Amino acid sequence: MESIQSIKQRFGIIGNSPGLNRAIEKSIQVSPTDISVLVTGESGVGKESIPKIIHQLSHRKHGKYIAVNCGAIPEGTIDSELFGHEKGAFTGATATRNGYFEVADGGTIFLDEVGELPLTTQVRLLRVLENGEFIKVGSSKVQKTDVRIVAATNVNMFDAIKKEKFREDLYYRLSTVDINLPPLRERKEDIHILFRKFASDFALKYKMPTIKLTDDAVQLLIKYRWSGNIRQLRNVAEQISVLEQNRTISAPTLHSYLPSGSNLPAVINTTKSESDFSSEREILYKVLFDMKADLNDLKKLTMELMKNGNVTDVQKDNETLIQKIYGENESDSQFEEYSDNPEVLSITQNSNPKTTFETTDVSDKYHFAEEIEEEETLSLHDKELELIKKSLERHKGKRKLAADELGISERTLYRKIKQFDL
Ligand SMILES: Nc1ncnc2c1ncn2[C@@H]1O[C@H](COP(=O)(O)OP(=O)(O)OP(=O)(O)O)[C@@H](O)[C@H]1O
Ligand SMILES: [Mg+2]
Repeated sequence: MESIQSIKQRFGIIGNSPGLNRAIEKSIQVSPTDISVLVTGESGVGKESIPKIIHQLSHRKHGKYIAVNCGAIPEGTIDSELFGHEKGAFTGATATRNGYFEVADGGTIFLDEVGELPLTTQVRLLRVLENGEFIKVGSSKVQKTDVRIVAATNVNMFDAIKKEKFREDLYYRLSTVDINLPPLRERKEDIHILFRKFASDFALKYKMPTIKLTDDAVQLLIKYRWSGNIRQLRNVAEQISVLEQNRTISAPTLHSYLPSGSNLPAVINTTKSESDFSSEREILYKVLFDMKADLNDLKKLTMELMKNGNVTDVQKDNETLIQKIYGENESDSQFEEYSDNPEVLSITQNSNPKTTFETTDVSDKYHFAEEIEEEETLSLHDKELELIKKSLERHKGKRKLAADELGISERTLYRKIKQFDL
């Protein structure tokens, strides 16, 4: 029998908490059987890996694996999707169609969000579970299929049964074995390692140095409630990886990415962000705005490097620009800060113009920023305008102060004022 550790490796599952290990162990145990399994757990806990493990470890692994999101299929078409239909069964049924239960004969069907199934479909499903029989929509012919069903839900099924939204007999038939994935707040030992894994994945994806949390940020990360579980943790790791210039993340910085309210434990001291911009959204736009300015600076620097080829000369000629991008007190070690990324380090080391060109295409490193820019051009534009207006108001029209606050030169601000007709 494959070990829990090798299953984790095979399916990209991170963590070593008892709750997670128990769920994987149960999946391994039930996989050789045809027992129906119900995977339960809050949204974002990782339920989708369980049916994949069960299918891959079963004798059905060479058969089809079909995942159906029951909540995403309209009520009017779900029977036809699952069980197929005959030609002429309803308007638009121009040909006979095979449903998932026919297609997956000999394989596994994962019914995600099973609690969302309409009651009429539940009756059909009960029949397949009991004797492998189903009937296409608009047909009277009983067909047979051999499908293993793994279902998942993030709603309380007992509530759904009480409200008569879910059939009790079907619930018991589906949940012969219940595999529960505990919420992330009950798997505290997994939180930091998951964050580190996501941070390293995003560093690779966006070609940036990996973010690292300070000790107090780690404490905050672990204490946080994570009501969106691993999905939320992943999103936060991605946002920070993309937006933070300083790759060492302090607790207040991390805090600014965590939605407040019931999610935050009471012990957290909500130190106010240094920014003058009050709402989180504004802070986010400010960061994007800063990034856009940096991107332009980096493009300029790259052009210089491409044209000149001599790194030392370019560094000397662009000292102010380099300081602006990489921070005030790091003029001599600006690239060292990123020394764990060999590609970026090569900027300072490589003096061969050709290779320099290949390895220092900084604008390419930040290509994601352009994607963001493209997708959000409209709103960013509006936000930029709003930020400039607010800053000018705050400083009673004094351009120098507003430009300092916005992190742009007075000339750029002047250009923007003209451009936006302020
Ligand atoms: N242990 C884990 N290690 C690595 N990634 C994980 C782990 N658990 C979950 N994830 C990732 O978190 C995200 C959410 O997981 P998944 O889609 O399985 O959640 P879910 O329980 O099905 O949620 P929902 O009920 O909202 O559908 C996915 O991107 C998944 O890859
Ligand atoms: Mg899911």
